[in-house]
Amino acid sequence: MKRKIVVGMTGASGSIYAVRLLEVLNAAGIDVHLSITSSAQLVLKQELELSVDLDDFQVSSLLLGDGVDTSDSKLSMMRQQAGISSEDSNVLAFNVGEPGKVIYHHYEDYTSPIASGSFLTDGMVICPCSGGSLAAIVNTLSGNLVQRAAQVHLKERRKLIVVPRETPLSTLQLECMKRASEAGAVVLPAAPGFYHGVKTIQDLVDFVVGRICDHLDIEHNLIRRWGT
Ligand SMILES: Cc1cc2nc3c(=O)[nH]c(=O)nc-3n(C[C@H](O)[C@H](O)[C@H](O)COP(=O)(O)O)c2cc1C
Repeated sequence: MKRKIVVGMTGASGSIYAVRLLEVLNAAGIDVHLSITSSAQLVLKQELELSVDLDDFQVSSLLLGDGVDTSDSKLSMMRQQAGISSEDSNVLAFNVGEPGKVIYHHYEDYTSPIASGSFLTDGMVICPCSGGSLAAIVNTLSGNLVQRAAQVHLKERRKLIVVPRETPLSTLQLECMKRASEAGAVVLPAAPGFYHGVKTIQDLVDFVVGRICDHLDIEHNLIRRWGT
C-alpha cells in the first residue's frame, strides 16, 4: 500500500523547504495530504513569487514540472543557479515507479479526513513551522486544520515532525520546542549543516529535506552523508 504523509505548511520563512519536500515525497511515490495556512500563502508569494489559490488549489502551483510555467519565479532562479532545470526537477531519480498524489485540504476544512484519528497516515510534517503554530499545538489548540491534524498525530502517537525557522529564540519559544519534543514530536529546525560539500542554496535546502526524509524512513540521496 502507498504511504500517506500529511504535510502542513505554515507562515514561517523557508517556504522553499516545503516546496522541495513536496517534490521529493512525490518522486518517492508517497501520497501527500497537504494543507496550507493563509500566512504560508503570503510567504510563498513573498519568498518564491509563487501564487497559490487556497480556495481553488492547483497542485501545479507548487510542484514544478507539473504543467505550470513558473520560470519567472525566484524558485526557478535558485534552481538555475544550482544547475537544475524544471524538466529534471525530480533530480533524485527515485526508482519507485508511479509518483505520489497530492491531496489538498483547505486549512479551515475540519471535515477533512486528516482532522480525524480514524484516518490512518504514516506521519505528519509541519514545514516550515511558525512559532505561532508551534505555540498553538503545544497548547492543544486546533485553530486550523494544520493544528488539528498535529493534535491528531500526537494523540494517536504517530510521527509528527515540526520544522521551526526562527532566530534568535525566546525562552518561551524554546519552551514550546521542549514541550513539543516531550509530547513526542521530532523538533527538526530548518538549520542546514555546511559539511556536505555545499555549493548552492539547493544543497542547503536538500540538507533539511533529507533529514526530514530520514525521520520518515524514506531512502534518498539528497545529501552526501558524513563518513561516506
Ligand atoms: C514574509 C514573512 C516571513 C515570516 N517569517 C517567520 C518566521 O521565520 N518564523 C515565524 O515563526 N514566523 C514568521 N512569520 C510570521 C508568521 O507568518 C505569523 O506569525 C503567522 O501568524 C503564522 O501563522 P500560521 O502559523 O497560521 O501560518 C513571517 C511572516 C511573513 C509575512
